[in-house]
Amino acid sequence: MIALIKAFHLVLVMILLTIPIVLLFLNLKKPQDYLDLRHKMLRLALWLLGLLGLSGSLLVHPRHFTFHTPWILAAYFLVFIGAILIQYPYRQYKILGTRNLPLSSSFLWLERGTLILSFVLFIGIIHDAVTKQTFI
Ligand code: HEM
Repeated sequence: MIALIKAFHLVLVMILLTIPIVLLFLNLKKPQDYLDLRHKMLRLALWLLGLLGLSGSLLVHPRHFTFHTPWILAAYFLVFIGAILIQYPYRQYKILGTRNLPLSSSFLWLERGTLILSFVLFIGIIHDAVTKQTFI
């Protein structure tokens, strides 16, 4: 059962990593298109972070860690920061979707920033989980 939860955790990680890459590509190549898809992908990323927190928490004791282990505490913190970052473009798409307005260049720059930062955070969490150490 634990092996299954870990496999599930890793599948979620793989899906999560593709989201900032695809969204960054759309932001750069098709900045005014696929707005509904982009909104849904951001929502999916938020769900994935929640499910990763849940599946990760279920792994802590069976894999002989504690909730005070530094890299696990860091994972909770970074997941929280990642969710806050993703909330921003997610909410903007929600507002803009109802008004049918074009995306401003300042929003597109901010979206790029949040996507790159969240991708770096995810890589940091993976680094910590693999090495069992915090990256800073
Ligand atoms: C608060 C959320 C999270 C907690 C509590 C958590 C906890 C854990 C635990 C306990 C393991 C098992 C480690 C082992 O078997 O040695 C694990 C594995 C892993 N987690 Fe998470 N995790 C969380 C979120 C994430 C996120 C967001 C990512 C990626 C973006 C991630 C990536 C990984 C990877 C790549 C592994 C496999 C590491 C390995 O076996 O070498 N985790 N996680």
